[in-house]
Amino acid sequence: MSERQAPVGALDESWHPDTVAVRTAVPRTPYGEHSEALFLTSSFVQPDAQSAAARFAGDEEGFIYSRFSNPTVASMEQRLAALEGTECALATSSGMGAITLLMLGLLRGGDHVVCSRSVFGATVKLIGEIFARFGVETSFVSQTDVEDWKAAIRPGRTRLLFAETPSNPLAEVCDIAALAGLAHDCDALLVVDNCFCSPALQRPTEFGADLVMHSGTKFLDGQGRTLAGALCGSREIIESRLLPVQRSAGISLSPFNAWVVLKGLETLSLRMQAQSERALELARWLQQQPAVARVHYPGLEQHPQHALAMRQQSGQGGAVLSFDLAADGPAQARERAFALIDATRLCSITANFGDTRSTITHPASTSHGRLSEQQRAAAGIGQGLIRIGVGLEHPADLRADLSRGLAPLA
Ligand SMILES: Cc1ncc(COP(=O)(O)O)c(C=O)c1O
Repeated sequence: MSERQAPVGALDESWHPDTVAVRTAVPRTPYGEHSEALFLTSSFVQPDAQSAAARFAGDEEGFIYSRFSNPTVASMEQRLAALEGTECALATSSGMGAITLLMLGLLRGGDHVVCSRSVFGATVKLIGEIFARFGVETSFVSQTDVEDWKAAIRPGRTRLLFAETPSNPLAEVCDIAALAGLAHDCDALLVVDNCFCSPALQRPTEFGADLVMHSGTKFLDGQGRTLAGALCGSREIIESRLLPVQRSAGISLSPFNAWVVLKGLETLSLRMQAQSERALELARWLQQQPAVARVHYPGLEQHPQHALAMRQQSGQGGAVLSFDLAADGPAQARERAFALIDATRLCSITANFGDTRSTITHPASTSHGRLSEQQRAAAGIGQGLIRIGVGLEHPADLRADLSRGLAPLA
């Protein structure tokens, strides 16, 4: 292969993340396709029986079966790992699939996990209830109080600290470096759900996290087309502890979905920048609305962890914000929240975020609806809370869309 053809698939250490995002992939096929090929095949034909045996035994490189090896999926994994600054990545069927694989790969009955109580609702269910059935115990702690995390650690039993920052939907920010210090002091691993920021804004391993978890369904795809997930980390953890479990458990990403995310990663940085700018503008405007009691957005100077967020998130607040409507009690708050949502014409009423199109949702009855009232109260998710995943529409149109519902509530 000539020098000119070399860059595809070969990561040059000197490249800027923008370059990495559009260039990192497995090598081109002999056909010379410019866009990465979509290998929509369940298995791979082996040259001969001897090679098949060597590949299955792991003694020879080569693709075998798409449950655990596929070139399109490998391209997506390589590109994401390069963006996160980790040695490796492992793609999974969804974000929740990534957490399931993480737990299956790293824990056994009797182990203990410390997890923020402000993580995504399904994460609370999965870690706190489903894995409890298999003897894994979890302590849920404050998102922001490092002393609370420290007090929950059980020496010799705590194997994992799990954080999501900023959190969904209140955008509270964890101190990644402080949590990494706590985890490493007790020989545990720190895992960070990086859905809200994506590697375009935040690279948790730079602050000491051991693993980064993604719902590729969000900003990585960026256009609301597919479910996907991933875990990023060292070769030792990914290849020795997680890949063997994926091979047996089948929590795998389809090549088609991997291809969609692969192409989404090319525009990730531009989208995150533009959507964060719009979110900041909208957050400032919402603060001035009489019907709004409080805006939760780390890009605002008034946010309690603003300085920490700016350090961890490349000076950006991200593209998801939430706000509480002023109301007299939970019943009125819910009524007002529903009225505001129903008055929108532009924002899509859907629980996803990370799309180029803005989304609006009522977390207490959707993404966090399966939690008990007590769990929601502990996480600060009230009936008057609205979350917006800010997209790429013009800010004036977003303001007009929300004004329609906010004006009658003032
Ligand atoms: C912060 C966060 N983590 C994880 C998930 C789960 O991802 P998925 O829907 O891809 O399983 C979500 C989904 O909304 C999320 O918001």
